Amino acid sequence: MIKLVKGFHDILPEEMPKWSFIRETARQTLERFGFREIVPPIMERTELFARGIGEVTDIVEKEMYTFEDRGGESLSLRPEATAGILRAVAEHSLLRKDSLLKVYAIGPMFRRERPSKGRFRQFFQVDAEVLGDDSPFTDAEIIAAAHAIVSEIGATDLIMEVNSVGCRNCREGYRALLREFLEPYLGELCGDCQRRYHTNPLRILDCKVPRCAEISLDAPIITDSLDESCREHFRGVQTALEQLDIPYRLEPRMVRGLDYYTRTAFEVVHGELGRTKAVGGGGRYDNLLGELGGPDVSGIGFAIGLERLAMGLPDDDPRFARSVDAYVAILGERAQSEGFRLVNTLRRAGFSVESRYSGTSLKAQMKVADKVSARRVIMIGDDELARKELTVRDMNTKQQATVGMGDIVTYLLNLQDGPLCGR
Ligand code: HAM
Repeated sequence: MIKLVKGFHDILPEEMPKWSFIRETARQTLERFGFREIVPPIMERTELFARGIGEVTDIVEKEMYTFEDRGGESLSLRPEATAGILRAVAEHSLLRKDSLLKVYAIGPMFRRERPSKGRFRQFFQVDAEVLGDDSPFTDAEIIAAAHAIVSEIGATDLIMEVNSVGCRNCREGYRALLREFLEPYLGELCGDCQRRYHTNPLRILDCKVPRCAEISLDAPIITDSLDESCREHFRGVQTALEQLDIPYRLEPRMVRGLDYYTRTAFEVVHGELGRTKAVGGGGRYDNLLGELGGPDVSGIGFAIGLERLAMGLPDDDPRFARSVDAYVAILGERAQSEGFRLVNTLRRAGFSVESRYSGTSLKAQMKVADKVSARRVIMIGDDELARKELTVRDMNTKQQATVGMGDIVTYLLNLQDGPLCGR
């Protein structure tokens, strides 16, 4: 047997109701916030991610699935959606028609990380981006949208962590301060962080190696290095969050794993999984669209990991329960043809219907009806054929009714609880 690629996963039919629920809730919430869907491809030129996410990020340095295609071009499976969305916005001049654009995408991302609980090499994100606006209200609104998605899905024990990583100027000064603080500890940092000290010292704050994390605890915080306009912007974001009653916590040590952020950065963190396995994250980027060839306007966005969101939800949540309007129990050889016709007549009338044509006993078929949570079982056997009537059993009340074969659609349509899918 050829097995699944390590770190990838199948989503099996029994998991789909939960997945569909999450996806549809995210979709509906974002549509309500004024976002429209966009579907960029899952593969782009490697250069896009190197330029967009940053050459010296873990994602670009060691986690991308990069290959040379037969034409000799370097392509990569997308490790995130933002760069591709912004490429599409620039390429199709989407901001020429509207000065503000709100788009979202749902789909798989690929990162060759070490697989563990909640960490996969293929995972799904719902990603939302607002382009063409740098008001702090927009920051608060996008944090509110992320919060609305997770709360409407019913995920509990989640906190919004918020920080400002300043603009390029603030970061320049902060980087120098950080290097100055870290210099005496340079020999104690892990190999990666010794390298990061020179290339991207902010990433050291995110290192999971215990000694690096311990040293970082006393490091200066970026919010102390913000210039007046970044400070004011951040204050505006917090006031707007309070206006909307969004529960949040300031986290001055949060640096995101992607280099494009400026000013507001945030993460949706699970109490149990912690920040290393955040449910979502995002932030503002003032320069990214311009750098990718689009207009020089600011943007902000976030992505929520669907697997991590799904992990926090119980499998037996009644909202994921699947049921069908009717199970047609076909009893005996002679009823097969009429039963087959009945199943398909009901489906054409808009009902969801299950049946088995294998001629098993009533008991076995009642088990199937239970398994698919049929609301009604419609029995058709020799007696029914002779009388041209059907026996309809309500699986909740256990009451049975006899209905003329020609009247079954009308009968089902007139029932008080009505069909699940036929309305
Ligand atoms: P990110 O923080 O790298 O941000 O990823 C967002 C979310 O994707 C994470 O919080 C997590 O739920 C999920 N995720 C990331 N890696 C994995 C993995 N290996 N396995 C399972 N889930 C994972 C971004 O991707 C940015 N593009 C977000 C953004 C949009 N910023 C601005 N706009």
